[in-house]
Amino acid sequence: MHVAVAVSGRGSNLDALLRTLGPDAPARVVVVLSDRPTAPALTRAAERGIPTAAFRDPSDHREWLEALERHAVDLVVLAGYLRLVPSGVIARYRDRIINVHPALLPAFGGKGMYGRRVHEAVLASGARESGATVHLVDEAYDRGTILGQARVPVLPGDDPARLAARVLEAEHRLLPAAVLAAAAAGRPVPVHESVESHQ
Ligand code: GRF
Repeated sequence: MHVAVAVSGRGSNLDALLRTLGPDAPARVVVVLSDRPTAPALTRAAERGIPTAAFRDPSDHREWLEALERHAVDLVVLAGYLRLVPSGVIARYRDRIINVHPALLPAFGGKGMYGRRVHEAVLASGARESGATVHLVDEAYDRGTILGQARVPVLPGDDPARLAARVLEAEHRLLPAAVLAAAAAGRPVPVHESVESHQ
């Protein structure tokens, strides 16, 4: 399965995915896309010899489709990608785009809910647990069918940074598991947290 990964920042989820997808894995990252030419994740991909593309206009579905078709992409993974996917891309790749969100959707999701703000909201709510969600992507932020979740406890003394780090570990397990499950089934399917590495 040919996988495109869209990033906006440091790319720790991309790293976790690349670590899981060894040479005999049923899925391969064939291109890394970003809305930010300076995203560290792009550098990480280029250092591994993976083709990259920084959009001139991330809202232009034609730029997306040109890159996805050029690399015969089967699955699009949003990993720390912070913009909406153009509706023209959703239409052509419906049910083949997944996103990882650092909270237990449907709570604590939606426009503007990313990064530190998510964990601040979880802590402010008094929730006893948080976690990561992988879901199908549609035209809105964080709304598509949930494919799987990995739960972590909220602990006494947690601040946003400590909770973020605990949730990020869960993301790094859940997203690769979701990609492996999609590769085995030929399309995104419900996923459970246990993941075996394909190194
Ligand atoms: C992660 O918390 C991810 O869930 C969110 O963006 C954050 C950064 O991810 N969407 P990464 O380190 O750039 O993969």
